[in-house]
Amino acid sequence: MNAGLSGTDPEHALKAAFPLPGGTQDVYYARSNFVPLPMIERASGVYMWDEDGNEYMDVSSGPVVSTIGHGNARVADAMAAQAKTVEYAFARLARNCANRDYAARLCSLAGPGFERASLTSGGSESMENAIKFLRQHAVATGKPSKSKIISCQPSYHGATISMLGINGEVMMAPFLDGFAVMSEKIPAPLSYRLPENHDAQGYARHCADALDRKIRDLGAKNVLAFVIEPIGGLSTGCVVPPAEYVHSIREICSGYGVHLVFDEILCGFGRTGKFLAAHHWPDSLPDIVTMAKGLASGYCPLGAMLAPANLVDELAGLTGFEFQYSYNANPVSCAAGMAVLDEVDRQDLVTRAAERGATLRAGLEAMRPDIPIVGDVRGLGMLMAVELVADRETKTPLPHHIKPADKIRLHGLRNGLMIYSRPASGGKYGYWFIVAPPLTITEDECGELLRRLQGALSDFVQELRAAEIL
Ligand SMILES: Cc1ncc(COP(=O)(O)O)c(C=O)c1O
Repeated sequence: MNAGLSGTDPEHALKAAFPLPGGTQDVYYARSNFVPLPMIERASGVYMWDEDGNEYMDVSSGPVVSTIGHGNARVADAMAAQAKTVEYAFARLARNCANRDYAARLCSLAGPGFERASLTSGGSESMENAIKFLRQHAVATGKPSKSKIISCQPSYHGATISMLGINGEVMMAPFLDGFAVMSEKIPAPLSYRLPENHDAQGYARHCADALDRKIRDLGAKNVLAFVIEPIGGLSTGCVVPPAEYVHSIREICSGYGVHLVFDEILCGFGRTGKFLAAHHWPDSLPDIVTMAKGLASGYCPLGAMLAPANLVDELAGLTGFEFQYSYNANPVSCAAGMAVLDEVDRQDLVTRAAERGATLRAGLEAMRPDIPIVGDVRGLGMLMAVELVADRETKTPLPHHIKPADKIRLHGLRNGLMIYSRPASGGKYGYWFIVAPPLTITEDECGELLRRLQGALSDFVQELRAAEIL
């Protein structure tokens, strides 16, 4: 079996990819995208194979989705059994047992403060639910002026129109202008390329002060929530803030009566070595946590908004939470989520995330002497990003015109790797790729992944040298 994409003719690939009628999703993507998307035919564990027999290791679990790896028969069987018993029951008209059992298990893993779960079909829906829930609670409890959302620049919270307004993504400005309600932005506590005279701790303090100032400027009575990815994903390249920052934002929000929302859609569900990222700072828990992606590990769409019982019950006693989607708490999704949790327990994957994450991190760090473009390796557990630079000394990013994110994806494919990299904020903050394989990855597979990655990065370095960029 081949490892990686070989000898693709772009013209031919383009014609073959877009037959009429139909076409795969990339029929909508920019035709200038020069990375051919392989047609995946089969997947098992951390491996995927395309229709030409090329093999890829799933370096980033897609966009950090595949918690337990591909092709798990136990999960598939649990979904089939549920579909044969009750495939659907509309949550406004009926309860379903899979919802009851899954919510109980999810909430007990999340622990005190997160006793209720509203189950959706994904991350953006869960973020929408969190904001709508808090807004409805504010209106129902006599605080209708609370409507402002504060979020970070850069950040990512979803692709619905309201989430696009909350995201800290500078490239979307022309699209959003006059179209979406924009949140108020404060700087994210970035850790690598910092303003002059700042170290990471000092900059994080500056960012927490910015939150305090922003709430005062807007008037606390007008601010509904501060929304943050507690550990970053693609938007920041897996930035992990200092503990003092998390304590500060918790104190600031509590002091002003502003809700703190942790978007754990990407970073939650065991990947960082704790079930919730919030569990790394147990004395600074948020009011609301949103989850998705890894919850059902890609076997079906599933998301969750976790909230404290007192808030949910209070609103239920007033107006009730008005909004839902037809697929909320779908029984097959809940059965899949439950079966994924069974696998997480059976294989002790939260512990393994911390252990194998350390192996991978050491391997990535060890590439520095040979691969001069490795600028920063950051993250926690099995959620890491590698930031690529043209000059390690000055932290100069790779030049925009070469499309660094596309290049690393392409070199990955040629070396048998599926790598998630996109130019967040148009590359304004630099270029990185995500290293977050399924938590089931073995020690041997970690070694193989690192070998292939060293090959991909070496090829990229060679190309950059040939173009006299290095
Ligand atoms: C931090 C974060 N929040 C929200 C979302 C949106 O989730 P979804 O794509 O499932 O709608 C994503 C997706 O990448 C994400 O990374």
